Amino acid sequence: MKKNKDRIITSHIDGTMTPDEKKATLVLQEQANNNWDTTRRRSKYHFDPYMQDPLYDTVIQLGSIVPCWQDNLEQIILESKRVTWQQLAHWRTRNEPGKSKSKKDLAAEEHITGRDETLYPTNLSWKIPPILQYVSDLFAVDDCMARIHVQMPSQVFNMHIDQLYSWNITNPDSISRFQIALTDWEPGHFCSYGNYLYTGWRAGDVTIFDWQNVPHSTANAGRSPRVTLQITGIETEQTREFLRKLKNSKPFVNWISKPYVDWRSI
Ligand SMILES: [Fe+2]
Repeated sequence: MKKNKDRIITSHIDGTMTPDEKKATLVLQEQANNNWDTTRRRSKYHFDPYMQDPLYDTVIQLGSIVPCWQDNLEQIILESKRVTWQQLAHWRTRNEPGKSKSKKDLAAEEHITGRDETLYPTNLSWKIPPILQYVSDLFAVDDCMARIHVQMPSQVFNMHIDQLYSWNITNPDSISRFQIALTDWEPGHFCSYGNYLYTGWRAGDVTIFDWQNVPHSTANAGRSPRVTLQITGIETEQTREFLRKLKNSKPFVNWISKPYVDWRSI
């Protein structure tokens, strides 16, 4: 994928772009200027606050994994670092934090996005402990980005639409973002997908949503951190095989109770 992206950037310079590459470049440029108006225009969502469309006003529940990471939670929370909107968008290098942009760039982008760069929507941890690496590997996505969101009480992720096109600009349908709840829901924890308010989850619940279209937000008005493992990447045949097993095993316990063993070999 990186090659593909490099090719697009190169051809932009040498002026030999194909129509597909021109389209992809526009998508990447829009992504760079990520703002509500642009993403809203691209989305198929209805944006009617009084409508409930089952296609978009929902989160898709894929099954549950028996929690096996409780011993790591305290350390994960302790090591997580707060990030601004811009840092979140910019920290796209895989599994390690990137650098924030200059103050001048941030000010310019704040003007575009209307986002207040003094706010911290969440804490992030890029240190994935072995047991969560094992969980992440089960999803078998290509070009995997795994990171842990630790949303502390009072942190708010305002409504937005994800921009994940850089994973595969020519086939965005192949890109998936999975969320695995690492902590139980508690009153005051919120996730909204369109007009659907998602609450009441259990640690281990796995969800996915239509990232290309569904505006979403999260908030922690509770008293404990809300911790989620987020896995982003390109779906493979192994991903689909795992999701079938996840759906049919409630909860997905037999393989995960033997950490560090490849469940496919059992
Ligand atoms: Fe998002």
